[in-house]
Amino acid sequence: LTAEWSVEQAQKGGYDHFMLKEIYEQPRALADTVHPRISDGLPSFEAQDDIPEGFWRQFDTISIVACGTAMHAGMIGKNLIERLARIPVECDIASEFRYRDPILGKHSLVLLISQSGETADTLAALRLARERGATTLAVVNVTGSSIAREADYVIRTFAGPEIAVASTKAYSVQLSVMYLIAIRLALANRAVDDARARELTSGLLGAIETTKDVLGLNVEIKEYIKRYESLRDLFFLGRGLDYALSMEGSLKLKEISYIHCEAYAAGELKHGTISLVTEGVPVVAVATQETLLPKMVSNIKEVHSRGADVLLVCKQGLEVDPEIYSKRLDLPALDDLFMPVVGVIVLQLLAYHTAVLRGCDVDKPRNLAKSVTVE
Ligand code: G6P
Repeated sequence: LTAEWSVEQAQKGGYDHFMLKEIYEQPRALADTVHPRISDGLPSFEAQDDIPEGFWRQFDTISIVACGTAMHAGMIGKNLIERLARIPVECDIASEFRYRDPILGKHSLVLLISQSGETADTLAALRLARERGATTLAVVNVTGSSIAREADYVIRTFAGPEIAVASTKAYSVQLSVMYLIAIRLALANRAVDDARARELTSGLLGAIETTKDVLGLNVEIKEYIKRYESLRDLFFLGRGLDYALSMEGSLKLKEISYIHCEAYAAGELKHGTISLVTEGVPVVAVATQETLLPKMVSNIKEVHSRGADVLLVCKQGLEVDPEIYSKRLDLPALDDLFMPVVGVIVLQLLAYHTAVLRGCDVDKPRNLAKSVTVE
């Protein structure tokens, strides 16, 4: 008997790369992470994570600390927690946080996010937070990892093993935990009532359901990015949650395709980046936030009028003049708050297909490691 597949191919389950397999695993990973933490229509970390309901009432400030992709999930977390729970949140890169003499006390919650649970700077930030008397809560994918062992409380994400260096499903599940935490905190601090918290929880579950539909954009994205084959630079633009999402889209693309990418808060365009936008420069405009759409549209017009080749990532049903973009990708029409859950999939697929087209080693990009255990 001869095996036609190598062990690695078998592990890839028929996909060309681990990254693509992991992108497709997201609906399941999200469901696995979120469902055990819903009780009676509301987020609860009591049964799964042993975090009592009273825990969420103790904090007057929150610091989210992480590196890389996990930090980008934290940026969304900051937005969600402040918006829903009305508690001030800072979000920091771990290597910045630990050297800036952060102000922490017994009413501070330090939320560490890490896929591996071994990132040296995130671990050092955790130790510093503990020394300073803050409560530490880690959102970690790997059981038994250093960060999981040392944190006061742990929320495990259930992405399963992530093999590709570029993180995809681990980001999505971290994001889903940010929603659960934000809703839980909002409820505990009476920033929302029970009915609204239930509505938000079901909004999250609905968003997770629609991730399957977004994967259906795969072929369209693969076709479109053919124009990116010999590209040198690309810009992402977004506002609010879309800005945080753009940061992740830009990181993903640069990591694996080696194209120089920058994510810009669209409102900052005029303060610098616009000088780099000339004829044919590709811009990915992430415009999923209905409330910010008029502002985004005027930024898109600014780059379009300078010749930019705009790919618009938008929400179904939003009206945007087709003159100002080359291609539009429509995401399911969810509440603005939940658009990152679906939006990120498009950006991951964009990065993946661009890297494949350019012949890059998608799963093992040069100079990068899955887990950075040195400072
Ligand atoms: C490395 C990986 C990234 C990851 C980051 C943080 O840079 O290549 O994918 O986001 O470390 O890793 P962590 O395991 O702490 O989430």
